[in-house]
Amino acid sequence: MAIKKPSGDFFSLPTEASRRKQRIVVKYHAAWSQVLRSRTNSPAKIRQNLAYVDLFAGPGKYGDQSLSTPLLIIEAAARDPYMREHLLTRFNEGDPALEDMLEKNIAESEAAKQLRHPPKVTCARVEEDILREIGGIPPCPTLLFADPWGYKGLSVDLLSKFLRPFGNDLIFFFNYNRISSGLNCSLFDETIDKVFGTQVATALRARIALQKVKGPEKERLIVDAVGEAFSPFGAQTPVYYPFHAKGRLSHHLMFISKAPLGNEIMKGVMAGESTRGTFGFDEATETQPLLFPDLNIEELGRDLLQRFAGQTVSFSDIGVHKHAQLGIPAHKKAIQLLERQGEVVVLSYEKARRLTAHGISVPDDAILVFSKGDARGTEDPN
Ligand SMILES: C[S@@+](CC[C@H](N)C(=O)[O-])C[C@H]1O[C@@H](n2cnc3c(N)ncnc32)[C@H](O)[C@@H]1O
Repeated sequence: MAIKKPSGDFFSLPTEASRRKQRIVVKYHAAWSQVLRSRTNSPAKIRQNLAYVDLFAGPGKYGDQSLSTPLLIIEAAARDPYMREHLLTRFNEGDPALEDMLEKNIAESEAAKQLRHPPKVTCARVEEDILREIGGIPPCPTLLFADPWGYKGLSVDLLSKFLRPFGNDLIFFFNYNRISSGLNCSLFDETIDKVFGTQVATALRARIALQKVKGPEKERLIVDAVGEAFSPFGAQTPVYYPFHAKGRLSHHLMFISKAPLGNEIMKGVMAGESTRGTFGFDEATETQPLLFPDLNIEELGRDLLQRFAGQTVSFSDIGVHKHAQLGIPAHKKAIQLLERQGEVVVLSYEKARRLTAHGISVPDDAILVFSKGDARGTEDPN
């Protein structure tokens, strides 16, 4: 049976939502590999390699020639000497025409040629025997990415096999909208049972019917059920990034890891890719004009870095300079942005730092250590 396609031309131009999804996967992959390589550099040199598996890979490029996730992962690996030597990649795409394009795009990629282990591409439908088709689970820590259209092919049974080995994490696109509607209709019981496993799906349907929940409460029950389905395999609570479109929740990018550190890293990555004032992506917020169109957060960050390059100052010292009209929250967001860019270190002795939509919170008592930045041409802050 041919692969079902969504309406519209998905691969002609990336949407902003697709770009966010790609950046989250690529950034997490880079951070995750840093953590694991320091462990694999032990004198015993066990498990030197790291792997990335994408079960629904697509063609690798959009019609405008911009790169999609498979080639972004390959390019990032080629820039990193450790990953060039140690990354194993497996890409599966079920549509033969798209798989041909992926093979061609990889063959033409200079970055792919630099990898010691050439990427492996397969063309198989994601079903029960997919593991055999792709040559099994790689024998080293693996990040699995599963980004289907709809939710057919996604199942806890399959994903949990990837989750079990040491160092393995899962990122999958969870079609909240369709799964949520499917839970209300007995025609979809069998497919939904495959997603969550029969026991968890049955309990979830019962809870939804009993509590008659809708909106955020239903969302909470569904996300909890995902956590429940993976917890027998040692998973932490899922970390998820919601995508809102046309005023409603459409998808979640779900992250499942056995490692608390994995969860913390992913929360930071997702916060960094969130739209203003929210955790996740909201099409509506994204298209709203900036509150201060003449000075956005990025510019404010650049300005602060120029003014305070190489200095250690308290947060209260910076809040009163010439952009004071932007207010404390905008200054905190700019500091969070600089922190993500590695341009400032935030120290707080009194108050604990919390996760917010824009990164880890900047308490009022924080001490900021600014990098030297590009100090040339810096104005005197006084
Ligand atoms: C959302 S797209 C993937 C996009 C890709 N992750 C990216 O970033 O460019 C989903 C892909 O999965 C493929 N696909 C859909 N159902 C499949 C199945 N059952 N088995 C394998 N591939 C499938 C589609 O042909 C499509 O290319």
